[in-house]
Amino acid sequence: MKALDGIKVLDFTHVQSGPTCTQLLAWFGADVLKVERPGVGDATRKQLVDVPGADSLYFTMLNHNKRSIELNSKNETGKAVLTRLIEECDVLVENFAPGALDRMGFSWERIQEINPRIIMASVKGFGPGKYEDCKVYENVAQCAGGSASTTGFREGPPLVTGAQLGDSGPGLHLCLGIVTALYQREKTGRGQKVLAAMQDGVLNLCRVKLRDQQRLKAGPLTEYSQFGEGEPFGEATPRAGNDSGGGQPGRILKCKGWESDPDAYTYFITQAAVWEQICDVIGKPEWKTAEGYATPPERLDKLNQVFEALEAWTMTKTKFEVMDICNPLNIPVGPILSTKELIEDEGLRATGTIVDVDHPERGPYASVGCPIKLSDSPVEVTRSPLLGEHTIEILRDVLGYQGSELDEVINSGAVGDAKQVADTAAS
Ligand code: COA
Repeated sequence: MKALDGIKVLDFTHVQSGPTCTQLLAWFGADVLKVERPGVGDATRKQLVDVPGADSLYFTMLNHNKRSIELNSKNETGKAVLTRLIEECDVLVENFAPGALDRMGFSWERIQEINPRIIMASVKGFGPGKYEDCKVYENVAQCAGGSASTTGFREGPPLVTGAQLGDSGPGLHLCLGIVTALYQREKTGRGQKVLAAMQDGVLNLCRVKLRDQQRLKAGPLTEYSQFGEGEPFGEATPRAGNDSGGGQPGRILKCKGWESDPDAYTYFITQAAVWEQICDVIGKPEWKTAEGYATPPERLDKLNQVFEALEAWTMTKTKFEVMDICNPLNIPVGPILSTKELIEDEGLRATGTIVDVDHPERGPYASVGCPIKLSDSPVEVTRSPLLGEHTIEILRDVLGYQGSELDEVINSGAVGDAKQVADTAAS
């Protein structure tokens, strides 16, 4: 038994934001039916191709545990099949450009008419307002949601981050909205519309930067290195480099091997509660009691000097040695792990956060498994579907098409090339 057993999801998503959400729903046990344009499918199937002829990792890593049906939602038979899918499903998830679903003839009003219990969940770039009609991708959302203006170094340009806050972030928000709406439906019997705008999702993750924006009224942000460096603050929350966001100063410091290994670094937090241990470890016991160093407020204007001394020590150790020495002393540190180290990490493999998946076209590959662990709803990651792999299965077993009615749909062209559909089903 899985948490979302019995929940059917009409997955009208593509690229990254929507698929992130429906993949989680599939991992929680929902039957996710991915509706794709005949012969084309989700554009990511053919983006960043590394194995010619096979679905790309971009697609496979975002679409595990789903079934795929090819369906032209703009042709009459296709619309009839889509209507049947809306009748059957509990949730419709989409992240088309604004207005695309209406142009297909499936407005929210129409969808509710077909199935008043359905939850319609959308990712859009912006919420209602002047930008609501814009098409939006990941980096645009990071920029419009406050992440880019607060990331990077003061003297440099705004930076986007490697974490896909603009796409996978809103996907997570949407998923939470869906399960909440499912819970409310238990009591009301009604579906509802769920919207996760990418800008809003990024902004939610930048909450502490808006905290700092308002703290500026009360004076400089003393925990930012720029305070210690005597640099004045402007009107908005500045880029904070690698300063830690809380009241405990932290930085990224070089470790042994940094000259040749771009990831030989550690994050080091000078947690006030363990200041004495830190002083002992780095060979500065005098700082434990010295005037100007003993308390956190006194150290604020000397953070560069403190971190230079820390780095002189971390540079004599590997990032893992720093971790081994500091952890028992409760000194918060963290190695900068490369993607290579993460993909090979035994601990992450043991918990299923990194998994190996086999694929008929591309062979085995590693993926990120479900990052959320439910003790009573285990996850087995299965490969992403081939384009239209389950077209007949879904038409027959989910929608109840049989005999001549099934043949009619197959031969109408609405679900792709009839011969190919039959061949795929046979194989
Ligand atoms: N059958 C027939 N037509 C289909 C179809 C199907 N199964 N699936 C999609 N289409 C059509 C759509 O109806 C649309 O047609 P229209 O322009 O005539 O209305 C067309 O395909 C293109 O869809 P669209 O969503 O506009 O794709 P795009 O490639 O032009 O834009 C995005 C891509 C991501 C920019 C856009 O979808 C978007 O802004 N989405 C919302 C925000 C978002 O999620 N962005 C991040 C993605 S990771």
